[in-house]
Amino acid sequence: MSGRPRCVLAFSGGLDTTVAVHWLTHQRGFEVITLSADLGETRSAEELQYRALRAGAVAAHVVDAKEVLLTDFVFPSLQAGAMYQGVYPLATALGRPLIARLLVEVARETGASAVAHGCTAKGNDQVRFDVAVGALAPALQVVAPVREWSLGRTEEIAYAAEHGLEVKATRESPYSVDANLWGRSVETGVLEDPWQAPPEDAFEWTVEPAAAPSEGVIIEIHFEQGVPTRLDGQGVSPVELVGRLNDLGGAHGIGRIDHVEDRLVGIKSREVYEAPAAVILDTAHRAVESLTLSRDVLRFKRQVADEWAQLTYDGLWYSALRQSLYAFVRSTQQFVSGEVRLQLRQGALTLLGRSSPASLYSRELATYERAQDRFRHQSAEGFLNIFGLPLRTQAAVQGNLWEETKPLLPSMPRGIAEGPGGEPEHAQSD
Ligand code: ARG
Repeated sequence: MSGRPRCVLAFSGGLDTTVAVHWLTHQRGFEVITLSADLGETRSAEELQYRALRAGAVAAHVVDAKEVLLTDFVFPSLQAGAMYQGVYPLATALGRPLIARLLVEVARETGASAVAHGCTAKGNDQVRFDVAVGALAPALQVVAPVREWSLGRTEEIAYAAEHGLEVKATRESPYSVDANLWGRSVETGVLEDPWQAPPEDAFEWTVEPAAAPSEGVIIEIHFEQGVPTRLDGQGVSPVELVGRLNDLGGAHGIGRIDHVEDRLVGIKSREVYEAPAAVILDTAHRAVESLTLSRDVLRFKRQVADEWAQLTYDGLWYSALRQSLYAFVRSTQQFVSGEVRLQLRQGALTLLGRSSPASLYSRELATYERAQDRFRHQSAEGFLNIFGLPLRTQAAVQGNLWEETKPLLPSMPRGIAEGPGGEPEHAQSD
């Protein structure tokens, strides 16, 4: 090999990264090695290698990273319950730190001094790459050709033509799309008008709910310690499970998400997602948690989920905080095992049932049937005496709460309505 510095480029095979191979080689003097991570939605390995080498790369790696995407990134986030702004399952955001990890690995193996990605200056993805590489290998230089050059799409096509780069004139999607097993993210084009409903051509994984079969389908998912392990009673690998739920959910119109989202760079942006498996598994996982986690853990965990989602979205996957939160999340999942039954029907996902060997739900406590009831009704009075004590104290000492309320029955003059017993109540001390 030559004495030129090496750069490992995250390569999708599209126009941007194909031009980037040439640009890094000729404008920046790098020897370019490409890395394409197969996260479930990529071109074929042969095509990627062919395109990279044709554009001037000295080596082209394609790595199957589907399983590690799910086990190391997606399932921990599922266990955390992370949804950015409550709705986005973070597919793209979870893929980036994994690709960054692979870039660093290839850079280490090949003695490269730089890594590169094809992200623009306006998005979140550049942040995720730059920050993750900085965390894993601070000495590596990060180059972002698309951010640096000032080529628009037309100029890129011209550049490609001028340098004999083969960028197959495929049917150009009117959208910017990123997809992996956990979901498909769609932006730009007509979607930039938040008033316009997304046209059907924005969707590839899901059918329009009304066009889905009216009889729907019922499925059962089994979880072990917060991780889905079986579908309809059959053990399935993570990749198979998520793939099958994407197909099934998509066929029943499940998993379309239309969201005006806040990017880290301060821009509001209209995003459309398709994430059938993510939506199904998140609903199912929450159902097992509702049986097996205490009220306090559930409440605290919601804050952790929000924090986790934001850290992930903001490219801080490798931060100390995200890692410490995982210690908490993992410990909450010890008893999150059980079965969930769901119906998928014309875009509606309905939870039909849940069960767990570690369920905290007690029929004998919950029932309103006298014969089976084991709840001690007599205890309620004493409990309320104590539980309500601070408020009665407040009323007795600072007590103009009642005077401050507006009469709801204006015809009835204040003072006539007396509580039962007539006597104002005083705070008791023990
Ligand atoms: N808005 C999403 C995110 O920030 C998706 C980004 C999709 N990227 C793309 N190149 N279309 O995670």
